[in-house]
Amino acid sequence: MYFDSHAHYDDRRFNKDRAALLETELPNSGVVGIVNIGACMKTSVASVALAEKYPFIYAAVGVHPHNASQLKAADLETLRKLAAKPKTVAIGEIGLDFHYDHSPRDVQRHWFAQQLALAEQLDMPVVIHSREAAQETMAIIKESNVRNGVIHCYSGHLPMALEYIEMGFYIGLGGVVTYKNAEKTREVAKQIPLERLLIETDAPYLAPVPFRGERNDSAKLAAVVETIATLRDISQKAVSEATTANVKQLFSI
Ligand code: NI
Repeated sequence: MYFDSHAHYDDRRFNKDRAALLETELPNSGVVGIVNIGACMKTSVASVALAEKYPFIYAAVGVHPHNASQLKAADLETLRKLAAKPKTVAIGEIGLDFHYDHSPRDVQRHWFAQQLALAEQLDMPVVIHSREAAQETMAIIKESNVRNGVIHCYSGHLPMALEYIEMGFYIGLGGVVTYKNAEKTREVAKQIPLERLLIETDAPYLAPVPFRGERNDSAKLAAVVETIATLRDISQKAVSEATTANVKQLFSI
């Protein structure tokens, strides 16, 4: 039983076999739920459409920092309407990405704060993307009143993970935990309270070992669960049950 807290099945890499995966292959592989995450206005609409089509899919709507420079004020009202759909469970993914800098940093900061404010108004959890911007992401969240959400694909140190947990957030971990050089992430996977851990694919990205470099999908969470179970010295069943309960708790599913 796996509940994927973060995937992008609207991605064109699934165009050829999306229906087969979502109708048959993933449910037959023990995937019981997926949150499909918006990254721009178009993919937010697509996430809602997938959630309407498939009973085990839920949607998050929001604009990724890469796409922040495309945003207009009117888009916030569109996001508000998409957020009101019955299977929309979060605002995201939103945040800062200073690795690629696809949008200017000031523009990223502005729309991150605006979308946090939207989540606060709607009393919804957030899905946070942060890359090479750890301190500033934390600072902008602290300036908001949002204290409910997940730090997706968490790549920071253990002390900051614990600080996020103390604030009320969950930590999302995926394929990276299986990579040889990811010692910091494995330490986080081992040490944080199990009741604050979510598993995710970020499909089609970040496939775990032994599928690294291939297209990722939610069935490959088995490899993530296996690694986390070994690190924590608990059963795979304990990891999959806890992370399923956690994602349901966070997103009120
Ligand atoms: Ni993502």
